[in-house]
Amino acid sequence: MGSTKPVRAPDLREMKRQGRKITMLTAYDALMARLLDEAGVDVLLVGDSVGMVVLGYDTTLPVTMDAMVHHVRAASRGARRALLVADMPFLSYQVNLPEAIRNAGRLLQEGRAEAVKVEGGAAWVCEVVQRLVESGIPVMGHLGLTPQAVHQLGGFRRQAKTEWDAGRLLEQARKLEEAGAFAVVLESIPDEVAARVTAALEIPTIGIGAGPHCDGQVLVSYDMLGLTGDEAPPFARRYAELAEAIVAAARHYVADVRQEAFPACSRAEMAGREKDK
Ligand code: KIV
Repeated sequence: MGSTKPVRAPDLREMKRQGRKITMLTAYDALMARLLDEAGVDVLLVGDSVGMVVLGYDTTLPVTMDAMVHHVRAASRGARRALLVADMPFLSYQVNLPEAIRNAGRLLQEGRAEAVKVEGGAAWVCEVVQRLVESGIPVMGHLGLTPQAVHQLGGFRRQAKTEWDAGRLLEQARKLEEAGAFAVVLESIPDEVAARVTAALEIPTIGIGAGPHCDGQVLVSYDMLGLTGDEAPPFARRYAELAEAIVAAARHYVADVRQEAFPACSRAEMAGREKDK
């Protein structure tokens, strides 16, 4: 059985030092957070992917601070051991530093997150990271395919494919570490670029579509549970086929109701009802 000691942001660096792989999955509500926590996942990310996976948008851009607070707060009711990280949604940290601090603060104060995640590695993002960290808010970085920049990137495309882009990503990862980030997500980049970044940093890298050399892995839980079907990215291994199971169960229920097989009682159920009277 795994440890029940709560995972804290600084523990991740120690896990990297000890060569222990970090596990992270997304959760957007209390039930899923409780189940994934029970399974021993180290980090639960309330990602702004909630917009695409749960709310039906085609990008993460429409996700608001209020929506994030709502989902983080829900997930916090289910998380026990796992570190709870909340995504800062689009425009919650881009406008200016005071807004970034206030919005990150809301995710901790109202949402009960224990850390936040921001996308990008430009100088102004590193400044935001530094100020949040100085305010006592642990920050996770996110480089490579950064979904909030989907329109600028021209789609959900693999990043850092040229030597120049790979070098720039490595430099940004170093700057995020210097700014005080406690970990960095690397999304959809070549395995060898992720390996270089991982070797260059003391803070852990957590990969998604970035190969096996990262210090940890993250997946969108609905993808790995087989709930998102063909919309899941090709690198997301399915560990269950829950969409099929749900449709089959619902079909069975519909058929039973139509054929009056539910709530018709079996003899054993009838006997139980009589006893309860
Ligand atoms: O929003 C999200 O779920 C994420 C993960 C893909 C890392 O940022």
